[in-house]
Amino acid sequence: MSFRIQPAAPARPNRCQLFGPASNTKLFAKMAASAADVINIDLEDSVAPTDKDMARANAIEAINTIEWGNKYLSVRINGLDTPYWYRDVVDLLEQAGDRLDQIMIPKVGCAEDVYAVDALVTAIERAKGRTKPISFEVIIESAAGIAHVEAIAASSPRMQAISLGAADFAASMGMQTTGIGGTQEDYYMLRDGAKYWSDPWHWAQTAIVAACRTHGLLPVDGPFGDFSDDEGYIAQSKRSATLGMVGKWAIHPKQIALANEVFTPSEAKVTEAREILAAMEEAKARGEGATVYKGRLVDIASIKQAEVIVRQSEMIAGS
Ligand code: COA
Ligand code: MG
Repeated sequence: MSFRIQPAAPARPNRCQLFGPASNTKLFAKMAASAADVINIDLEDSVAPTDKDMARANAIEAINTIEWGNKYLSVRINGLDTPYWYRDVVDLLEQAGDRLDQIMIPKVGCAEDVYAVDALVTAIERAKGRTKPISFEVIIESAAGIAHVEAIAASSPRMQAISLGAADFAASMGMQTTGIGGTQEDYYMLRDGAKYWSDPWHWAQTAIVAACRTHGLLPVDGPFGDFSDDEGYIAQSKRSATLGMVGKWAIHPKQIALANEVFTPSEAKVTEAREILAAMEEAKARGEGATVYKGRLVDIASIKQAEVIVRQSEMIAGS
């Protein structure tokens, strides 16, 4: 065990991040009125190249004029491999008011990508006298990104969250699929002629969770493309929550309630966690470090597991 205490992730709910293209202004009010914890106004891949300038102006206008309530307000800028990103940062930081909380940087491949954006953001914040520091979320969606995820997580004090972007990730990895997240038809094990599907996103997810937990960031599952498949979305979300992720993107409003449901610890889970804590209190009073709860072993590690669930539930309830 390292003597270093694992840093806590930001204590704000991040169960659902709702995306909408900044080129589609009629969505802004609907996004603001939604039940998503985080809003991601998109300047990147849902906006056509010919619409980039218009979308940027729309985003700034929306940040400054719409009542966003207590939502965490984020804009996804264009990638560092495009000619658009610097103008995204300059215009946002110079023209969007203090309501803007975060910039999301897509397709980050190394810590220096974050450093470059940080340098520009820092200079503009100082020049303009902005008092609220802009935070960063990055998307891991390339082979380079996942290979360097630990350094990326440690790259800047502005870092608050990392999302997995399944579609670009699959393309960069050369994966033979056009699906955006979820079960993949050809990724199965065979036993006695029966197919058992396993999870091709598992490694990337756990790598992101480990990097985030090491550096006190929020690990987030990205998009699930088939928004007519509620069951598939719920199954993917439950896997992500089980692995330690705190939330998932919604690319359509019908996915918001699903994410909120899965990433809010259920009453049954919270009750069980509290019972485990109580059982361990009693064990401690008896001078024991382990005891039996519903026929199974619980010990001092169980306290930490139970506390994860109770803390998450209290943080969401208190927000
Ligand atoms: N945020 C808020 N409201 C949304 C929304 C969003 N992202 N997407 C759709 N809606 C609204 C629609 O305006 C419509 O509202 P209405 O009932 O008042 O008319 C309602 O939800 C139902 O929409 P629907 O007709 O089913 O979808 P659509 O054909 O209008 O749009 C998409 C489908 C996928 C194009 C749209 O959901 C979208 O742009 N999603 C975000 C894509 C994105 O940002 N991608 C980047 C990240 S991967
Ligand atoms: Mg992408």
